[in-house]
Amino acid sequence: MPFARVKPLDAILATAERKSLHRTLGWFQLTLFGIGCVIGTGIFVLTAAGAQKAGPGLMLAFAIAGAICIVAALCYAEIAAMIPVAGSAYTYTYATMGELLAWTVGWALILEYAVAASAVAVGWSGFFSGTILTEFLGVQLPSWLAGAPLALGGIEGGFINLPAVVISLLITWLLMIGTTESARVNAVLVLIKVTALVAFIAITLTSAYFDPDRFNPFLPAGLFGGFGTGVGAVGAAATIFFAYVGFDAVSTAAEETKNPQRNVPIGLIGSLLFCTVFYIAVAAGAIGTVGGQPIMGPNGVPFPAGSEELARQCATYAADQLPLVCSNEALAHVLRQIGWSGVGNAVGIAAMLALPSVMLILMFGQTRIFFVMSRDGLLPEVLSRVHPKWKTPYIVTAATGVAVAIAAAFLPVGRLADIANAGTLYAFMMVAIAVMILRRTAADRPRSFRTPALALLGPLTIAGCVFLFFNLPLDAMLVLPIWGFVGLVIYVAYSRGASHLGRGIVDVHEGDELEPPVPGTH
Ligand code: ALA
Repeated sequence: MPFARVKPLDAILATAERKSLHRTLGWFQLTLFGIGCVIGTGIFVLTAAGAQKAGPGLMLAFAIAGAICIVAALCYAEIAAMIPVAGSAYTYTYATMGELLAWTVGWALILEYAVAASAVAVGWSGFFSGTILTEFLGVQLPSWLAGAPLALGGIEGGFINLPAVVISLLITWLLMIGTTESARVNAVLVLIKVTALVAFIAITLTSAYFDPDRFNPFLPAGLFGGFGTGVGAVGAAATIFFAYVGFDAVSTAAEETKNPQRNVPIGLIGSLLFCTVFYIAVAAGAIGTVGGQPIMGPNGVPFPAGSEELARQCATYAADQLPLVCSNEALAHVLRQIGWSGVGNAVGIAAMLALPSVMLILMFGQTRIFFVMSRDGLLPEVLSRVHPKWKTPYIVTAATGVAVAIAAAFLPVGRLADIANAGTLYAFMMVAIAVMILRRTAADRPRSFRTPALALLGPLTIAGCVFLFFNLPLDAMLVLPIWGFVGLVIYVAYSRGASHLGRGIVDVHEGDELEPPVPGTH
């Protein structure tokens, strides 16, 4: 009975206890780390897709998604500090709801991490092509190398997004040879990103172009755009939820945090609040200066972001007249349109420098999940083979990198973000359930952080995740059950029989303490 295969908490904690608990991180480092993981393609690029879905209501969308992430983060913090081992949501589910559901979570996390990394790669590609190639070098990639095919919402004549493929493979190679990112590099990149956003906010909010009339109508597609449409303020919230993805990495650093009861929630909530305020201000600046009304279809509903119809509409504008909702490098584009081209290019370069670090953290997260699943026997053990010289799970890293590159090659950023969000929302929901179960089944275990008012925040997190999920566009929503079905077939055909737990082996993993730290924390 797969539901009966619950991994004993003691075995999991024995692994954690042997880890040398170097509690070195304080709240400030943790907050910096959180901001480093979170600010990326979501704000620098998806602002355009968000505006196409909600118009000025994008500001409300950032607030809704931010609030749901903050309650989810509080649940994450408790379980991450209590079960501080690799595998995060997958391991927590294994310890509470059993192997089958753990498998589904691990499977869904592929969407969170790998597909999100693809989305960030496509975001990076927009800045590379727009700022470096077009603005500085004055060259244009042939359209077949510049983006996804039009039929998928890419560009006319598009076939493959070459820059996105190149950056994905480059990051894969860095991870394979064991590159991690020091806390200092992370701090510098955070400074670069935040400076770019501060400059953007200061310039746009004080610009002569800023006109409050541009916020009318505030909700051109309504609050709820209708089931499956993915539009309206809530539909935009479901997409720009992506801008907050990655904060769970903060909780994975819980075991290395001094006084986690105090510092983990400060780090999580601090970084999320900081980002929420910034995101709303950025949206206000962009919309107030160049406007952010959606391009409406014939039925008075915005064309879906990332759709062929929208791509065709956008192609009818001259480059210097392009509406915000059509831009691949939203923030740089806004600044160029209001006469700040130099700063616009600097923002493009800042995004180009900082986005690869977000990819590094996401892909690192993905390889760890695969690594742990294969170590549990649910995936072939060859995947967790560690390279003798590089000391990294190089096979799983290479496999992840190729998958990330393929998705980045052929899909537009908004689609990828929506798919990543579907998987992430499922994982966050399962984490909230796991926290509530553990309060009952392991009530007396020490917890260095307890989610406040869990009876309220737990169900609120679950409801928030379900709510956002059902406001995604229909195709992104459907990816989760289809992906889940493929996962189940693999589980039944292979993993159920190969599972170590199923074969009576409860792993206590010698050598786990040698695992490298999460990039950007040390
Ligand atoms: N939150 C991250 C980003 O927006 C994944 O790029």
